[in-house]
Amino acid sequence: MITFDAATGIFHLQGKHTSYFMQKNEQNHLFHLYWGSRLAKRLPDYVLKEIKRASYIADTDHIKEYKLERLPQEYPAFGNSDLRKPAYQLTFQNGTQISDFRYTAHEITKGKPGLEGLPSLRESDDCETLIIKLHDAYQQMDMFLFYTLYLEADIITRHIELKNTGTTAVEINQLNSACVELPSSDLDLMHLSGSWARETHIQRTPLSQLNYRVESTRGSSSHEHNPFIALMDKEATETAGSVYSMNLVYSGNFEATVDVEMQDAVRMQIGINSSLFDWQLQPGKSFVSPEAVLVYSQHGLQELTHKYHRAYQNYLLPPKFAQQERPILVNSWEACYFDLQEEALLELARSSKELGVELFVLDDGWFGHRDDTSSSLGDWFVDRQKFPQGLEHFIAQIKQIGLDFGIWVEPEMISEDSELYRQHSDWCVEVPGRLKSYSRGQFVLDLTNPAVQDYLIETLSELFQRYDIDYVKWDMNRSMTEAGSNALTSSQQKEFYHRYMLGLYRVLAKVTEEFPEILFENCAGGGGRFDPGMMYYMPQTWTSDDTDAIERLAIQEGTSLIYPTISMGAHVSQVPNHQIGRVTPLNTRGVVAMQGNFGYEMDLSALGSAEKQKIKDQIDQFKLIRSTVQLGKFYRLAVPNKENAKAWLFIDEQQVVISYVQIHAKPNSPSKRLRLIGLEPEALYQLPTGEKRYGDELMAFGLAIDTVKEDFYSQQWVLKKEEDA
Ligand code: DGJ
Repeated sequence: MITFDAATGIFHLQGKHTSYFMQKNEQNHLFHLYWGSRLAKRLPDYVLKEIKRASYIADTDHIKEYKLERLPQEYPAFGNSDLRKPAYQLTFQNGTQISDFRYTAHEITKGKPGLEGLPSLRESDDCETLIIKLHDAYQQMDMFLFYTLYLEADIITRHIELKNTGTTAVEINQLNSACVELPSSDLDLMHLSGSWARETHIQRTPLSQLNYRVESTRGSSSHEHNPFIALMDKEATETAGSVYSMNLVYSGNFEATVDVEMQDAVRMQIGINSSLFDWQLQPGKSFVSPEAVLVYSQHGLQELTHKYHRAYQNYLLPPKFAQQERPILVNSWEACYFDLQEEALLELARSSKELGVELFVLDDGWFGHRDDTSSSLGDWFVDRQKFPQGLEHFIAQIKQIGLDFGIWVEPEMISEDSELYRQHSDWCVEVPGRLKSYSRGQFVLDLTNPAVQDYLIETLSELFQRYDIDYVKWDMNRSMTEAGSNALTSSQQKEFYHRYMLGLYRVLAKVTEEFPEILFENCAGGGGRFDPGMMYYMPQTWTSDDTDAIERLAIQEGTSLIYPTISMGAHVSQVPNHQIGRVTPLNTRGVVAMQGNFGYEMDLSALGSAEKQKIKDQIDQFKLIRSTVQLGKFYRLAVPNKENAKAWLFIDEQQVVISYVQIHAKPNSPSKRLRLIGLEPEALYQLPTGEKRYGDELMAFGLAIDTVKEDFYSQQWVLKKEEDA
């Protein structure tokens, strides 16, 4: 519930287990008081007064006597007596950059307004929104700080709206979506970093007096960094300690910064990347920042994960798919790459069906004359050489075999060798007269241009209308370079990256609204855009192009730290693995892929009968646990030697699924046990052996792990909960 106390000027956003306090003083400056565990009906009006830094007592009642730098700002400005990193920066017509926004009014309402043109969490029945209006009289501008509190989910979303009420244009150089100040830097910074095929590795770094910046400048949220940061107690663990985190609902260039200032306070912020952004805000116009999701956990990373998973599954994923189990698929990519031959594909489909697969996905190579990465992007019509009787005919046969049909597209791209390029070479992202860099042999379409957006909406609508399509994999395989547009004026060129995102979101909204029955999978060379922005439109994402089971352990652990496992694509692939050449047992590949949306990325028709039988058993097994994995609760388990093993658990009302993977065999290792969590202490659970144990025993003693002389060994247990224990 959100309250305001007029006597003290204190706002209190009180969630189920969390409190967030702000205070406005007599000068109408807005200060941040607290974000942390829930406090009862207190009004901590003494906090600001008691702030004493460098033997300076802040007397906030007398404007002449206080320096803003000494005090925790709620949304800090540039150019005043606070010389720390601001949350926003504007340049006015006269070239000056100082602003002074002060509180003028606020409103507390039920529900939540949407963000124009941008994805955001959908409202819940119990959410409330606080809108604080600030005004800068010098320039005649209004700023609106939006806070939505989700009571039960116990999270806060924030964004900013800036309105130019004056008569001259104002340049926005920076407008962060959220800023929070913490009083001390005795914390660790956690973020998710990596590269293509090595996404979302968890990084943890102790803070010192430095400016930290986690960012993307690649035009997408990127493989390099996910738009997420957390600050946590140095002692925080999986189950204990405070964690403060921010995740940006945005799929383009972002920055997440942490600044430890000279007196040890910490400012944590997230927003559009200001180094590649400037926006001309014309008189009478508004600008809306993307939404930031703020999640606090009092009990370590486990609670943090549960809060994100629950909020995203309930309020971010497209509602139709949020609680729907996902089909087991076979994808043609690693089975055939560009060598698509109709009969071989049908054979793959038949074998897959026999083994229990439900969805056949025709990946890259079906259109134009695309035999490698050098051509045809933009030509979304079937290659008659590969499918002589057309795609309808091929799809009809897939359906006759008894499988759903899915198709791959990469709509944001254009090949130089394409009909589209020959007709519209000016539709590329480019700076006219400058060389454009190829990447994967392709250019990017200029989605800032409404004509390109309309063309895409029309072309994709025709494609999805014409064919009987159940699933679409929407790929995006390059970073943006020489970023400019033929459709923008010179003063708008610095707006390119954000305008691209607005264009993309418009296309995604139109297409996904027109085809609500299609299951869309987001992909950007794997997890290059695994972010909440894309998740709003597309309920699942291809987590990584690296399908090696051991590499996937870290990637899936990092991804599932914040994103629900139902959104995470995970497939079994061939060995030696195509990305890194490692050979792992089929069982382990299966156990790891069963952590998300399960499928196969290999030629299932080319296997011997013994291997086929194993895969059939694997699929049967996944069908038994699918609802627990995709709709149940997820826990990471502590393992005896954590550098060398991973274990996790899914639980629902009926059963518990526990998976364990050991990376390397070690000599002389005594047998170890895996202690479970999240079980009902008094409930009786049946082990695969038929033995029965109580929840409290399983949480106290755990399950015995096999001691084996085998690298990449895995175990999976399914424990059935007894009805009347
Ligand atoms: C990158 C994707 O991540 C792969 O799964 C595959 O679809 C290729 N693109 C196709 O070009």
